[in-house]
Amino acid sequence: MRLKGKNMVVTGGASGIGLATVVRSLEEGAHVVIADVAGSDGAAQAARLDGRHGGRCLFVATDVTDTAQVDALMQRTAQELGGVHAVFNNAGIGGLCPAQDYTDEAFLRIIDINLNGVFRVARAALRHMLGQGGGGSIVNCASILGVMGQKQTAAYSAAKGGVVNLTRTLALEGASHGVRVNAVGPGYIDTPLLKDLPPEMRQALVRLHPLGRLGTDTEVANAVVFLASDEASFITGAHLMVDGGYTAGKS
Ligand SMILES: NC(=O)c1ccc[n+]([C@@H]2O[C@H](COP(=O)([O-])OP(=O)(O)OC[C@H]3O[C@@H](n4cnc5c(N)ncnc54)[C@H](O)[C@@H]3O)[C@@H](O)[C@H]2O)c1
Repeated sequence: MRLKGKNMVVTGGASGIGLATVVRSLEEGAHVVIADVAGSDGAAQAARLDGRHGGRCLFVATDVTDTAQVDALMQRTAQELGGVHAVFNNAGIGGLCPAQDYTDEAFLRIIDINLNGVFRVARAALRHMLGQGGGGSIVNCASILGVMGQKQTAAYSAAKGGVVNLTRTLALEGASHGVRVNAVGPGYIDTPLLKDLPPEMRQALVRLHPLGRLGTDTEVANAVVFLASDEASFITGAHLMVDGGYTAGKS
């Protein structure tokens, strides 16, 4: 039971990697808050999972672009569960567009969810963790596109690169308070985020992973649970790739 007795907040927890992390965290003994903008999906998942593995599973409707909602999320978690111990900062959106065709609005929307949202959630979590006397673990969702570029992902790769380096700085600031901050860097993972990919593009992506397939949401969730747990007690500021070898080099 890696997360026994810990209260874990998962943003974007209604779907894909977030939902898999909710399930794995509950299996490891945590109480979990699903924070998502997708209200009916989040509420339905929480109702389905609450008590199933012994822990509480609550849903708090949250848009990570809204500071007041993010602050209220941590407040409610602390009130209902008795503290904030771990956070998976996972809410994110995709988007493909050549750089010259981006509107300000489309570019800034991706940055606001995928980078600014991670900061808002981490800041609110830190305030609670420090207010509780310190200690805690924050795991941010970065990407292979946090360490390499890819055509048509100007906003997404800029945001994910920002998440990787934000993670390092938060790790330095959190260290003296016992708060560890790490990131996971998924390769292409078979989730609803990839649902619109044409089959030929999907096959091309498979070939880029030396392990010869896309990843699963649970494979990322396993890494998140490890980083959130005390098993990772000497790990902070890391960006753990969960990418089937994608960033290891050319095979
Ligand atoms: N799927 C992949 O191949 C892949 C690869 C690398 C990184 N990632 C990252 O993993 C994370 C999860 O992606 P996924 O593939 O599970 O996608 P997904 O679309 O299945 O889930 C994303 C969740 O985030 C929620 N969300 C979106 N905007 C939000 C907002 N403003 N506030 C709160 N919640 C919001 C959605 O409602 C959804 O439930 C993202 O940060 C994504 O960038 C995914």
